[in-house]
Amino acid sequence: MFLSRANIMLLLAVLLQPFSQQLELSPVSTSSSDLKVSGALPALPVDAVRFIRRSELEQLPMVSYRVTDDANFPRPVEIRGVPLEELLHALNVSSESVIVAAVCDDGYEAHYSPQYRHTHGPILVTQVNGKEIHGGTRASDDGAYGPYLVSHASFHPSYRVLGQDEEAQIPNGVVELRILKQKDVLAAIAPRGHVAPGSEVEQGYKLAGQYCFRCHNAGEYGGHKANVPWGQIANEAARDPKGFMLWVRNPQAVDPAAEMPPSADYSEAMLHAVMAYFQSFAAPMARRK
Ligand code: HEC
Repeated sequence: MFLSRANIMLLLAVLLQPFSQQLELSPVSTSSSDLKVSGALPALPVDAVRFIRRSELEQLPMVSYRVTDDANFPRPVEIRGVPLEELLHALNVSSESVIVAAVCDDGYEAHYSPQYRHTHGPILVTQVNGKEIHGGTRASDDGAYGPYLVSHASFHPSYRVLGQDEEAQIPNGVVELRILKQKDVLAAIAPRGHVAPGSEVEQGYKLAGQYCFRCHNAGEYGGHKANVPWGQIANEAARDPKGFMLWVRNPQAVDPAAEMPPSADYSEAMLHAVMAYFQSFAAPMARRK
């Protein structure tokens, strides 16, 4: 049987199609602007670490936006980058079941659930105002960005907890994306015991998941900036509720050298909810250690 020229082209297109989106993953890093990827990568062991060159990333469908509502940028900027969802697609990650952790050079971590990604369309940014971002000191603005950061075309909070809007997850200094199985993360941070919908514990869970989890780890998940794990926070919440609430609202009042940022805007109700959530862990965690 002879294939017509058109059919051959079609056949080639079909054969080549699965590879056209494929990213080259290198086992070694060759540049500080490489993006590290790890976690639940298809066809690789769970502890595998791979690197994607900046030039590889730039082959993916990129988007550009003028951003006016991102706290990382004191002035409106033009960003260019790849939507996290496109990147997952190119990595052949089945995106419904994963949380993407954006890990920063100082152990800070932002977390992107499927729902967050669908609602807000987070973008892994490679250029700001037409310039590649490469990292460096992050104390000042304009140019002190990177190696990667995450931003949005615009951010519209999709829920409120105890009067507080959902917070944008906008880490700067991102060096790694870690692909986490959502069920494992939920098993690590879901409150212990029976939790009634709309209860204080459930509200505290939402607040802690979107904020405390950026710096504090629950087992192998969550940020490692603080080096104070979930179980220790739980013990504090159970042992000394007043001290716990004072610490969360204003750590520097307790220890002038504290690095944890104050949450001066946390209301009494929010503090109680976060405390109730952490207290749900106290007994089993204390026993385990
Ligand atoms: C931006 C990072 C960051 C976030 C977000 C964060 N923390 Fe912390 N936390 C730290 C650091 C760093 C420490 C270690 C002590 C220090 O230097 O402040 C710490 C220490 C603590 C401690 C231990 C205090 C002690 O007695 O040693 C508790 C309890 C705590 N955090 C609770 C929380 C809770 C609850 C939240 C969420 C409402 C939270 N943290 C969010 C960075 C953070």
